[in-house]
Amino acid sequence: MSPIAPPRGTRDLLPDEAPAWRWFHEAHATVAGRHGYQLIDTPAFEATELFARGVGSGTDIVDKEMYTFTDRGGRSMTLRPEGTAPALRAVLGARLEQQRRPVRVHYAMSMFRYDRPQAGRQRQFNQVGVEVIGERDPCYDAEVIEVAWRFMAELKIEGVDLQINTLGDRDDRLRYREALVAYYTPLRDLLCEDCRRRLEVNPLRLLDCKKDARYAEAAPLIGEHMSDVSREYFASVCAHLDDADIPYTHNQRLVRGLDYYAHTAFEFWHASLEGAQNALGGGGRYDGLAEELGFPATPGVGYALGVERLLKLAADQGVAPAPQPPAQLVICTSGSAPAQARRLARELRNRTSVVTDLTDRRLDKKLRNADRLGALLALLIGLDEGLVLRNLRTREQQVVTEETVLDAVSAELLQAAREPVR
Ligand code: HAM
Repeated sequence: MSPIAPPRGTRDLLPDEAPAWRWFHEAHATVAGRHGYQLIDTPAFEATELFARGVGSGTDIVDKEMYTFTDRGGRSMTLRPEGTAPALRAVLGARLEQQRRPVRVHYAMSMFRYDRPQAGRQRQFNQVGVEVIGERDPCYDAEVIEVAWRFMAELKIEGVDLQINTLGDRDDRLRYREALVAYYTPLRDLLCEDCRRRLEVNPLRLLDCKKDARYAEAAPLIGEHMSDVSREYFASVCAHLDDADIPYTHNQRLVRGLDYYAHTAFEFWHASLEGAQNALGGGGRYDGLAEELGFPATPGVGYALGVERLLKLAADQGVAPAPQPPAQLVICTSGSAPAQARRLARELRNRTSVVTDLTDRRLDKKLRNADRLGALLALLIGLDEGLVLRNLRTREQQVVTEETVLDAVSAELLQAAREPVR
């Protein structure tokens, strides 16, 4: 019988990756928290309708990538492919926007999209993100971009390129849609199968096709179909970004893969990511989404960043924390002194991470094991000379007593923190 493998397109988080994972999530919660965002979490599955109506049929996510199943009660459910529609549903469902406006939330959640797995693209992946719900003002569009920007700066990730565009309001998009259909219809037979479908159901998505990119180059630009009001809104978002010293590229071909956007749309790109997977994250304004979901009209804006893509970049740039040993100190008994070992372990855990080796293995084997663990110190109990504290890096050892062991351990930890790791 062959061992069971993980599902395609999924990954395990193994202990060596845990410090980077924690560092990443703590930094996002901290930066978002400093800007007044509070944690929200939503179910891993939702009524399929939430995404069909929210993200929009005609998008790749809804048409091709959803994990949809019928539950035992006969209801159609879908594993969450994105977090904005669920977060909005949660906030409006609890009427939080009636207590304070805007509502600022941040999240860290797993998402599920059935796509062809490749580098940077998984079927289960993670996002961190924020949403500002209940106000429509360019300052909030710029604010969420700034939160993402400061977060990536906090991680010390370099080379992030902010691409921003405006998709205008519904009328702007209708005019633009007509212009796109007029431009693409004569080219119909030359387009890929997906784009022929997009021409019918979602012409804006034609601009996003990698196969037919050459036709997009001469396609009409959305800016040519924008009302003055929409233009001013976008100019104001850009002015706020200038104020915050955040550099950006106005990319008129940026359309995003989800249907709920109006006005501001943006993505964070990085040169090291290729092709369709070049975005570290993205977001924008979604003022029509609440109504699509059956709630009173409520504006919103937010972003989501791909955790795995950013962590890979952080590792490549050498800014992510290194793997950590499971414990800094191993208490090894020789002969039997388990009660003393346990008592000392409890005390020493106030200073550092401690594991005990109470087995009846030989002491030299226990020490080898402690070394393999990557521990800094071993405390040997039950030797003729009494308690012995051994530094596993320098191999120096000292005799200590129950009274002096805590200070001796502290001194060793301090010394090790000053020295570069071997
Ligand atoms: P999205 O552009 O679909 O936006 O996803 C955001 C980020 O999630 C992507 O830029 C990418 O880094 C990561 N990502 C997406 N799909 C995958 C995948 N299959 N494997 C690995 N990483 C992936 C949204 O989800 C919107 N909800 C963002 C938003 C928030 N808009 C407003 N508020």
